[in-house]
Amino acid sequence: MEIDYNKVERLIAYVFRTATQGDAESILAAIDTFCYTQEWCMNVGDVKGQFVTEAILCHKPKILVELGGYVGYSAIKFSTLIKDDPGAHYYTIEFDSILACVIEKMLRFAGLDHKVTVLKGNLQENITALKEKYNVQTIDFLFIDHIKSSYLSDFQLAESYGLFHKGTVIAADNIINPGAPDYLSHMQAHNKFESNLIDTEYEYTKGQEKDAVLISICIE
Ligand SMILES: C[S@@+](CC[C@H](N)C(=O)[O-])C[C@H]1O[C@@H](n2cnc3c(N)ncnc32)[C@H](O)[C@@H]1O
Repeated sequence: MEIDYNKVERLIAYVFRTATQGDAESILAAIDTFCYTQEWCMNVGDVKGQFVTEAILCHKPKILVELGGYVGYSAIKFSTLIKDDPGAHYYTIEFDSILACVIEKMLRFAGLDHKVTVLKGNLQENITALKEKYNVQTIDFLFIDHIKSSYLSDFQLAESYGLFHKGTVIAADNIINPGAPDYLSHMQAHNKFESNLIDTEYEYTKGQEKDAVLISICIE
């Protein structure tokens, strides 16, 4: 996954110029405007993000973990939903250390840094810290949005560490575009998860390109 750091810099500059500090909605709106009108970026976006938002509002998770943070759009969008719940916390795992710093900066600007912990590296490198340092024994909500070829292996890694419980919800982005076919077929055949494939559009394409989000619920 190649990161265009110059584009990231332009996006941050746009957000800090046009959004209001401490106002998550204005920050998300600024990012969406930049991506629709100036340069496309790989955030989950407003359309697909709404499906994930609805799943969070419906299931009211306390412990949320995200794989792939980029510039913090989804971390801001979803952690703002739990900001008034003192027992809820969001963990974002971002492989790229420059982007991890960008996410921390964006979260401070949004006033959400106390609700989100940014973990640098991949799930394998952070799973022990999650369990031992942060006392995350199980996850209520997992948002998978990192490298598509790792969706299945990271799901299986989390499963092997016992991170899921009855009621855990997993939302996975980009199921069609760029696509995670091995993850999709694995989850659809999994006897401990019920999955719902939501056909929708690829981020910031105004319906010109298709994509889907897979929402899976652990049933036992
Ligand atoms: C599609 S972007 C995430 C977008 C973000 N979830 C949002 O909606 O705002 C994918 C991110 O995953 C990160 N990434 C790639 N491989 C990873 C891995 N194995 N673990 C964690 N993050 C990874 C990339 O550096 C990139 O920032």
